[in-house]
Amino acid sequence: MATETVLIVGSTGHIGTSAAQGALKAGLSVLAIVRNARSAEKLFRNLGSKERITTVEADVTSPTGVQCVVDQVKAGRLPAFQHVYSCVGGPYDAESLYDLDDNKFLENMTFTFYPNFYAYRATIPYLLAQNHPNSTWTICTGGQGDIGARPGAGMAQGALYSMSTSAARQNKETNIRFNEVYLFMRVEVDAEAEAHGVQKASHFANVYETLLSRNDVRSARVLVTREEDLDVLRFEYKDQKLLEVGTRLLGAFD
Ligand SMILES: NC(=O)c1ccc[n+]([C@@H]2O[C@H](COP(=O)([O-])OP(=O)(O)OC[C@H]3O[C@@H](n4cnc5c(N)ncnc54)[C@H](OP(=O)(O)O)[C@@H]3O)[C@@H](O)[C@H]2O)c1
Repeated sequence: MATETVLIVGSTGHIGTSAAQGALKAGLSVLAIVRNARSAEKLFRNLGSKERITTVEADVTSPTGVQCVVDQVKAGRLPAFQHVYSCVGGPYDAESLYDLDDNKFLENMTFTFYPNFYAYRATIPYLLAQNHPNSTWTICTGGQGDIGARPGAGMAQGALYSMSTSAARQNKETNIRFNEVYLFMRVEVDAEAEAHGVQKASHFANVYETLLSRNDVRSARVLVTREEDLDVLRFEYKDQKLLEVGTRLLGAFD
């Protein structure tokens, strides 16, 4: 059987590197979207290898960037993929809410929310058409949307939570296991993590490696908020809150 491939959007960052490590450990190949050759080198350096990794340059902040990659895949110029991991992230400034001018607000949406949304919009139709029985689509969101200490970054995460809820709902009965990984701790590529005393990307990689093999986990929020969550998958179904409200009310919101 051909090796499955994960397309990673945001592949060269801390979380993207971790996703690549998880995918490689699970036996998958990686198709990594990179901003440029320098970012690709950073990824290879942090992974310590180029084996089973194909890179392609694209501007993931453009509405058509990921779509161009999908078009190249469809044309057979890049490997087909069955899985997507999306983790593009931008500014992390701490100015107060009323100091967020239009440009700063837009930067948060442009570099954090939009690229993950564009990635979803470009890849889901492709995965549905392929109809691979074991497709997955995973996004990493951060706890900042709940803490609110960095309002710009937090609001972008809030939008991603909502996007994930819709995606979880809409893919519940499809061939795609959509899941949101909610990360509430600092993860960095190993060398930086060691220097800063935070969690290592290679350790967080356990979460994605496990998620890929857990066919029962779909339309869920995977919770990574304490150290033990790095080793044992903890999750809740995204519609749990709605079910608590009651099925009678659920119908009213459809
Ligand atoms: N790291 C954590 O501890 C943590 C915790 C919770 C949630 N998260 C969430 O996970 C996501 C990724 O975080 P991260 O720590 O991996 O961030 P990161 O290390 O800064 O990586 C971000 C990724 O986005 C790309 N990117 C950023 N701005 C770009 C631009 N203008 N054009 C093209 N590409 C751009 C980067 O490309 P380059 O490499 O080329 O710059 C990189 O691939 C974010 O949404 C973040 O909120 C992270």
